[in-house]
Amino acid sequence: MSTFPTGFLWGASTAPHQIEGGNLNSDFWANEARMPGMERSGDACDSYHRYREDMRLLADHGYNAYRFGIEWARIEPEPGMVSRAELAHYRRMIDTALELGLAPVVTLHHFTNPRWFAEAGGWLAPEAIDRFRSYVETVVPILNGVEWVVTMNEPNMLAMMTGLAVKMQQAAEAGAEWQSPTVDEGPRPPLPAPDVEIGKRFVEAHHAVRDLVRERTGAKVGWSVANRAFEARPGCEEKKRELEYIWEDLYLEAARGDDFVGVQSYSAQWVNEDGIEPYPPHPDNTLVGTAFRPDAIGIAARHTAEVTGLPVLVTENGIATADDARRIAYTEGALKALGEAAADGVEVRGYLHWSLLDNYEWGHWGPTFGLVAVDRETFARTPKPSLAWLGGIAKTNGASL
Ligand code: NOJ
Repeated sequence: MSTFPTGFLWGASTAPHQIEGGNLNSDFWANEARMPGMERSGDACDSYHRYREDMRLLADHGYNAYRFGIEWARIEPEPGMVSRAELAHYRRMIDTALELGLAPVVTLHHFTNPRWFAEAGGWLAPEAIDRFRSYVETVVPILNGVEWVVTMNEPNMLAMMTGLAVKMQQAAEAGAEWQSPTVDEGPRPPLPAPDVEIGKRFVEAHHAVRDLVRERTGAKVGWSVANRAFEARPGCEEKKRELEYIWEDLYLEAARGDDFVGVQSYSAQWVNEDGIEPYPPHPDNTLVGTAFRPDAIGIAARHTAEVTGLPVLVTENGIATADDARRIAYTEGALKALGEAAADGVEVRGYLHWSLLDNYEWGHWGPTFGLVAVDRETFARTPKPSLAWLGGIAKTNGASL
């Protein structure tokens, strides 16, 4: 018997900038062009044109959900200028998912902003929240039939990156190499903490739009918070709670009153009296330098449910590896840990694997997270064994685990 409830979502996740290609009007595109050492997203996976093929891969392999995002920079390439064609494009994507029997889980903001928004002061500008609300009001009419909406992806990581953006700019000016904030390699110092002031702006942004999306679409509305599954060394509980607040709980507390909360976790991390311990170099580490910890999602789901009191939806979980057998082993461990959390009373509504495709990992093409490989020249899709493996689990609603 499965520990996962009927109607459980089984799917995979993507983000527009990482797969669509040609996201010309976004701030990240502009940064790619000027950061030394940063690989370009270019045509990415050309999913802008191949989304039907991508969704079919999921539907044909037994999945019932697909998470994708709407790109603000396409909808509003200039302030107040709304592209009807792009709205129609995303509506077609929603229709395609529904037609194929995939529940669309739609993200409204996944790290990238329109370039004009960034140039006008970004999230720290006094008008930022109004600008975001106005974009969300523009997209709400195309969300009919969507049951799950994520307002913002990983506001906590974005708060860290936005704080980092200024430093990156300075580094670029000094000729330093770009290092993706999501790639945490070996001896490199740990990531800087998210900037709490910027984080509070994201809380404001989420609160400014959640009711309007809920009321006008009837969808369940939440946001997805990155979870580092902190574990305390003996005597370091207090330090762990302090770090948890800055990294996660500020954002989780803000989710109270939502319909669900998205949980995203990839690895677990120790906290000692000095702070977060960097991942020690180890042959099992992933391509982004994190420890191989399939159980992290269980820790993350429990913590997220405890702080928010909400049902959780795993909106991302996966592994950067070139070895698909390890992806299967990781995912099997993750689903077992999630099943145990569910058996202990955590309401888990679905599991969306990161990622459907090998995609653009924010400055790098090297770390491959996909269930499907993508030829960088022809864009041909080649399913890896993990696609059918996870689809098989989906077909039995987890009972075959
Ligand atoms: C979190 C982010 O939401 C996603 O964009 C990124 O590619 C994955 N984690 C892997 O780092």
